[in-house]
Parts: sequence; C-alpha cells; structure tokens
Amino acid sequence: MCEKQEKGKMKVVETIKEMKEMSNRLSFEGKSVGLVPTMGALHEGHLSLVRASVNENDVTIVSIFVNPMQFGQGEDFDQYPRTLQEDMEKLLPLNTDVVFAPAMDIIYPEGFNTHIEVRKLSDKLCGAFRPVHFGGVATVVTKLFNITKPAKAYFGLKDYQQTLIIKKMVKDLNMDVEVITCPTIREKDGLAMSSRNKYLTSEERKDALLINKALTKVKRGIEEGSISTDKASEKLREILCTGSHITDIQYASAYDPETLEEINGKSFVGRSILLAIALKAGKTRLIDNISVNLNR
Ligand code: PAJ
Repeated sequence: MCEKQEKGKMKVVETIKEMKEMSNRLSFEGKSVGLVPTMGALHEGHLSLVRASVNENDVTIVSIFVNPMQFGQGEDFDQYPRTLQEDMEKLLPLNTDVVFAPAMDIIYPEGFNTHIEVRKLSDKLCGAFRPVHFGGVATVVTKLFNITKPAKAYFGLKDYQQTLIIKKMVKDLNMDVEVITCPTIREKDGLAMSSRNKYLTSEERKDALLINKALTKVKRGIEEGSISTDKASEKLREILCTGSHITDIQYASAYDPETLEEINGKSFVGRSILLAIALKAGKTRLIDNISVNLNR
C-alpha cells in the first residue's frame, strides 16, 4: 500500500486501528518506518524533517495532531492554525507515504487517564512558564510511537528542550526508537520558522528578529572571548530590550545543554553550551536557541 514504488501516492489515515494494522504489516515486511510528529501548519522547518525521514527510511509517516494536552489554560489551542489541506499539498511532492491525522477523541477517548512525565528536564526553561506542556508532549509522543512503531523519529532543534525530553523518555522507558534531531530552519532574515509566526504583526515581526540577532551576537562574543558566559544573560537582554514590542522576556541565558541548568561560573571549556531565549512579541510567545562551542 505504501510501497516506495508508488511514489506520489499518499495515504491519509485517521484511525488508530488502521494505523496500527499498517505499521504491523510494515514491520512484518521488514520495512523501516520514519515518523515525523507535527501539529500541522507546516513550514520549511517541518518539511526539512520529512525530507530527512524520506531519505533514511522505507516509509515516512507524518502525524498531524494539535495536541490539547500540551496547551495550558489561556494558551493558543483554539487559535492554533489548522491547515490540513495545505499541509497535504506540501507533503505530497516530498514522497510522504502516510499522513496520520486523527481527531481529538481518537487520541483521547473519554476516560483517558494516563500521563507521562519526564521529571527535572520538564520544569526548566519553557516548563517553568508552561507547567503542563512537556507532560502533554511526552504523553502524545509515546502514543504516536506506540501507534506507528517507527525505527526513527525526527525532531527539530528549534525545540531543543523537547528533543532532550524525548531522548530521555526513550532511554528511561527503553523505547525502540532512534531519536534524530535536525537543525533549525530560518527565514532569510534569521527568524526561526514557527507556525506561530503567523500571529505576528509586521512591527512585532521586526522586533522578533532581535532574537536571532541577540543569539548570534552573543555566540560570536563568547567564541571570540569578548563576552564571558556569565555575562551572556545580561548581553542577550540588552539587545532584546531594544524592541518596543518585546513584552515579556521569560528566559534568556546560557545553559548546560544536558541538564538545562543555568551556567553560573561553571567551566565549559572544551564543551558546548546552549544560548536559549523565550519571550513574547506582542501576545505571541516565541522561542529560539543556538549552540556555542567552547574550544578554548
Ligand atoms: P510542531 O510545533 O508542529 O513541530 C513539529 C516538529 O517540527 C518539531 O520536532 C519541531 O521542533 C520541528 N520544527 C518546528 N519549527 C522548526 C524549525 N524552524 N526548524 C526545524 N524544525 C522545526 O513540536 C511539536 O509540533 C509538538 O510538540 C509535537 C512534537 C508534534 C507533539 O505534539
């Protein structure tokens, strides 16, 4: 059904029963499955993951599901863009084999009562401001893994903390899936692609460019030795504060890329550190990060 020779044919699956039957058959046939979990409103960032999966697997499944469990109260679950038809038009030319697009009550039937929590990593950075977020992500990704049985699953480094949490969950729960992380795809002017960029007014978007500007400038300063890692937060905030539409800087600093602890005077020579930012431009919450190698 989803053989590679049938290029251009993309199957849309909406039920768990059909998806599981298909993945069981694929594994019986010895076919490797790559999964790209998404919430839709697809852009080049998502498509880069799909291309990676199509290159590395016999069959690529893209899931599209806006997961209510990872949105907190007052967040943008209702406004989140839902563009299934356009998404499918973008996926078809990439030779995607299957789009798994279940309805909400298929994933969360009445009485659903299980929750997966990756402790410690989930309450840092974004988790401090979105307390239910990563539990919701870990739970839905576990379900998607169980339903599609991928050999490899693809995640973007744009959501660095998410990749760390999924990797930890896979390790802790002995899941048979290899987590592949892919680089952040940016607009020409440096803004990290995000489904939420659609919410920005043109003035807010201009200020949003300060995020990448701050990350790249401070990265260069650290690499050249003109900024010490302890001053990273101050320097990032100096640049971000020049934007009048930047309303709420939730975090902006240098972090240990494994524990997500803020770097406070600890030496990271010979290792890498993570510069990460979350803020609101107008009402829109944006995140971005960059890795810095400290070779000196
Ligand atoms: P979503 O925000 O739709 O993102 C789906 C995948 O695309 C994630 O792995 C994300 O990191 C990646 N992605 C988004 N923007 C990117 C960019 N500019 N460059 C590279 N990759 C990018 O992340 C989620 O959905 C959800 O939490 C999900 C994992 C699907 C669970 O519901």
